[in-house]
Amino acid sequence: MEGDVLGKKSVKGKVQVPGDKSISHRAAIFGAMAVGKTVIHGYLTGEDCLHTLSCLEALGVQIDRQEKTVIINGTGWKNLREPKTVLDVGNSGTTMRLLLGVLAAQPFYTVLSGDKSLNERPMRRVSIPLTEMGARFDGRENGNKAPLSVRGNALRPITYQSPAASAQVKSAILLAGLQTEGVTTVVEPVASRDHTERMIEAFGGSIDTNGTRHSVKGRQKLIGTEIVVPGDFSSAAFLIAAALVTENSVLTIENVGINPTRTGMLTILKQMGANIELFNQRELNREPVCDILVRSSALKGTVIEGAVIPRLIDEIPILALIASQAEGRTVIKDAGELKVKETNRIQTVVSELKKLGVDIEATDDGMIIEGDPDKVLSGGVVNAYGDHRMAMMLMVASLISADPLVILEAESAAVSFPGFDRLLSAITRD
Ligand code: S3P
Repeated sequence: MEGDVLGKKSVKGKVQVPGDKSISHRAAIFGAMAVGKTVIHGYLTGEDCLHTLSCLEALGVQIDRQEKTVIINGTGWKNLREPKTVLDVGNSGTTMRLLLGVLAAQPFYTVLSGDKSLNERPMRRVSIPLTEMGARFDGRENGNKAPLSVRGNALRPITYQSPAASAQVKSAILLAGLQTEGVTTVVEPVASRDHTERMIEAFGGSIDTNGTRHSVKGRQKLIGTEIVVPGDFSSAAFLIAAALVTENSVLTIENVGINPTRTGMLTILKQMGANIELFNQRELNREPVCDILVRSSALKGTVIEGAVIPRLIDEIPILALIASQAEGRTVIKDAGELKVKETNRIQTVVSELKKLGVDIEATDDGMIIEGDPDKVLSGGVVNAYGDHRMAMMLMVASLISADPLVILEAESAAVSFPGFDRLLSAITRD
């Protein structure tokens, strides 16, 4: 994408964002494991979630894909079959890690692989607890990296103290535990997103949660249901940013999921002085949803650290851009997990924003940004390195760049937000 930004821009209008990625993956996987028909409205047709559907199909699940609705004909945990080919998860860490939890308890052999980025991401964080439960894994780098094989087994329940606040690790263990006789427990150091817990209940199952300790009884029968997927807060985040950092902007984003385990960015933006209103609050399948009204705002730097980090981990690239337009210093700490995302996001955020003239330095577990509300970014060639959230952050940066921006590997935005560039152009005014 080439920006054509040569002046002050505004963003205006009323928009919707595509369905939530985390909820879409889980609706498809739980739909496949449940008995009976699951109808999913607003399923995200980004590449990651399409990979989840094709992997489930390769495992013998019958799926009817319609334009905005996906129908899964679930036949229960026992009716998956050994796939004849390698399962391709593309760029999607959630697909691989959650499916490893499902496959750990299946009595067959599966090989999973993904793209260049996915195959560099650590998988031992999931295979360690699942091996303890009785599954067998192998893969590159001593079983840590894909292509990865799993031979499932009748598992034993465990209590696992997860070293990382990772919803993917938690979900993989819960998915394995749901197929295992006895009670499986996972304890997190800090709360991560809780869509799996909510989804278990939406499918008629039960889970005991006590703080960050979650236990499921095995061999539960889940029943197919109807799921309406809310708009993805992590996608809305880029539009919120576009309105905040441009002048005279007023933007409404309708139907956005505001699960508190996902909206740490709102907490931080409030601290920074952002003019954001939430209204029309309601609930869809146990998930809170609302409309969001954002206006251009004068912002102040802040410190982002501790328990809020897992609640905004995917929003750090766009928060770094926002911080570059705030008065004073923003410090981001405790975010070492950024190093194992679709790219090493400490490295890629810092290198690309530096190219645009932002005063930003990497630290071991985050970054420090010296903001300036009058800062006009320079243009030039930047690289999203195939990372969807980098691509969208850089497209938003193009709204406040003095010269055109050429973003390499920007097509990766389609991983979670197909058509983001078109939507952003449609709401941008000179
Ligand atoms: C996700 C969990 C998070 C997040 C990812 C989606 C999920 O990853 O970064 O985009 O749907 O469970 P981790 O579990 O690795 O923190």
